[in-house]
Amino acid sequence: MWPDRKLTQLLGIEHPIIQAPMAGATNPVIVAAVSNAGGLGSFGAAGTPPKKLRETVWAIQERTSKPFNINLFAAHTEDFDRNARPGPRLAEQLTAYHAEFGLGDVPVPGPMFGPFDEQLDVLIEEKVPVISFHFGADVAAVERAHADGAKVLCSATTVDEAKTLEQAGVDAVIAQGGEAGGHRGTFSIDYERALIGTMALVPQVVDAVSVPVIAAGGIMDARGIVASLALGASGVQMGTAFLGCVEMSVLDAWRSSLGSAAAEDTKITKAVSGRPARAIRNRYIEEVEALGEQLLPYPAQYSVSRDLRKSAAERDDSGFMSMWAGQGVGLIRNQPVDEFMREIIESSQKLLGQLGSS
Ligand SMILES: Cc1cc2nc3c(=O)[nH]c(=O)nc-3n(C[C@H](O)[C@H](O)[C@H](O)COP(=O)(O)O)c2cc1C
Repeated sequence: MWPDRKLTQLLGIEHPIIQAPMAGATNPVIVAAVSNAGGLGSFGAAGTPPKKLRETVWAIQERTSKPFNINLFAAHTEDFDRNARPGPRLAEQLTAYHAEFGLGDVPVPGPMFGPFDEQLDVLIEEKVPVISFHFGADVAAVERAHADGAKVLCSATTVDEAKTLEQAGVDAVIAQGGEAGGHRGTFSIDYERALIGTMALVPQVVDAVSVPVIAAGGIMDARGIVASLALGASGVQMGTAFLGCVEMSVLDAWRSSLGSAAAEDTKITKAVSGRPARAIRNRYIEEVEALGEQLLPYPAQYSVSRDLRKSAAERDDSGFMSMWAGQGVGLIRNQPVDEFMREIIESSQKLLGQLGSS
């Protein structure tokens, strides 16, 4: 049915389609639905504390007996200088926002996610079949996951990062092109040097590593899936396309922005979290970037802007949400996940057949 079975065999799935883990947007219903449809559903658990994470795993296991994936941000992402404070212009801007929306004091920089070791313990104890990491994978974490039989995936944004991950023992590498929505998975060099388009990145990663390669970034439908296979990928990881599914936890204002945004309305910014991530432009991003001041590193920048996002969610205000989205956003369609999965699988098969017979 599919020309390359490396990834499907590795993960025990029917179709080489991974619904990207998207912290804050994924939920047990969508994860289980994708896995039940023969793909790999993924839950973005970076921001989920251990107790809640265990309950989330149970909620997924109640809905599916098929393999699924849980994603964490690498442990090192929570290391930062506790004395870091916003510069004068950022401090003034944040204070003005807090006054505008009737919020209290601007939060002091603090940790955001984790603790990683406890999150990983939960995944291992609950026998999660696939564990993926973002921002790199350390050997100890990969070995712990492997010891209990989990398969491990991690994103790379350059050929060198892919080789590093292979050496760390990951079972497959996600080649994340610059088109991708959400955080850049870059962990080794300046992100601007690692902004390599999916079309250029995937075949170079395929040539450089022996583990299966998963293409990510700008893949929205059968055309992107089949093109990725032609580039040598063994499967795809799609994020923005799945944001269109009605079961996804996407706030109304974000959903409406996704429906009207074009590729050029997205940009890579550090204004939200301190790490580069592709989002739909909004008032917060434009105004904070216009300050022209060095922002805080991750996760300090994320934590000082946290109350603004919370309040934006309550007010359904797209101006202050983190509306992650990739450059494929103009192709997004709103439909139930079962219908979306059926369509992309059938259309990919048809397209593969057409290309094979011409
Ligand atoms: C809303 C959103 C949230 C994301 N959150 C995560 C995450 O928590 N962990 C992760 O590994 N990748 C995350 N990503 C990146 C995806 O794994 C993937 O690289 C990306 O979605 C692929 O590009 P596409 O959005 O063009 O399909 C996120 C992407 C989006 C759009």
